Amino acid sequence: MSPDNPPRNPDMETYRGDRPAQNPDMSPCRDGTARGGAAGDGTGRDGTALYAGEIASVLVTEGQIRCRIRELAQQVAADYQAGHSNGDLLLVGVLKGAVMFMTDFARALPIPVQLEFMAVSSYGSSTSSSGVVRILKDLDRDIAGRHVLVVEDIIDSGLTLSWLLRNLMTRRPATLEVCTLLRKPDAIQIDVPVRYIGFDIPQEFVVGYGLDYGERYRDLPYIGTLAPEIYAD
Ligand code: PRP
Repeated sequence: MSPDNPPRNPDMETYRGDRPAQNPDMSPCRDGTARGGAAGDGTGRDGTALYAGEIASVLVTEGQIRCRIRELAQQVAADYQAGHSNGDLLLVGVLKGAVMFMTDFARALPIPVQLEFMAVSSYGSSTSSSGVVRILKDLDRDIAGRHVLVVEDIIDSGLTLSWLLRNLMTRRPATLEVCTLLRKPDAIQIDVPVRYIGFDIPQEFVVGYGLDYGERYRDLPYIGTLAPEIYAD
């Protein structure tokens, strides 16, 4: 959000929780299957082999992720080129979950960017956060006057991101926006301004492409749901 004129997200403002989670922007990147499609991609890293019996379903395929990242990158590049940022775009990735998205997104952007990382930990159970956040790794550089785009893997309750945005705003960036790969509209507890959203997904616990359960499954190339017997809260 820019310090003086926080952007607003029309989807979030109008969302009432009475319609199924979906992303109207997702259609160009769908592969024709209702829930993502097959996990296999021919590389052997299809989860079936990696985590036999532990993945219940594929929510977003590797191909859908790749396609949507290309779209987001074009949109971000156009916005920042038009927005007089003078070529200054600083991506702030939130470790560890966003690492896959951050690196693929940065490489898809047709404009130069710089990369910074923060690691935060949200107290809570293994499948939900509390909003009480501590910084495990801070930024290496001052962001005052910079055009900052926070790159997140998922917005669940929104509590972590809400805290992070308040923290970053105190450092006086020129602009501060958010790009998240995933958002769960039905789980959001606090209104956070998110300008770029990859996919809205149902309120299910998901893993893969950076997202973990007990530090496992981050290496899956797709987003999937975990077999219920694997986790218990
Ligand atoms: C995840 C994710 C977000 C946050 C979203 O991080 O990367 O930062 O939870 O949850 P919320 O919207 O309910 O606050 P996590 O704390 O699991 O750490 P990780 O990225 O290292 O896996």
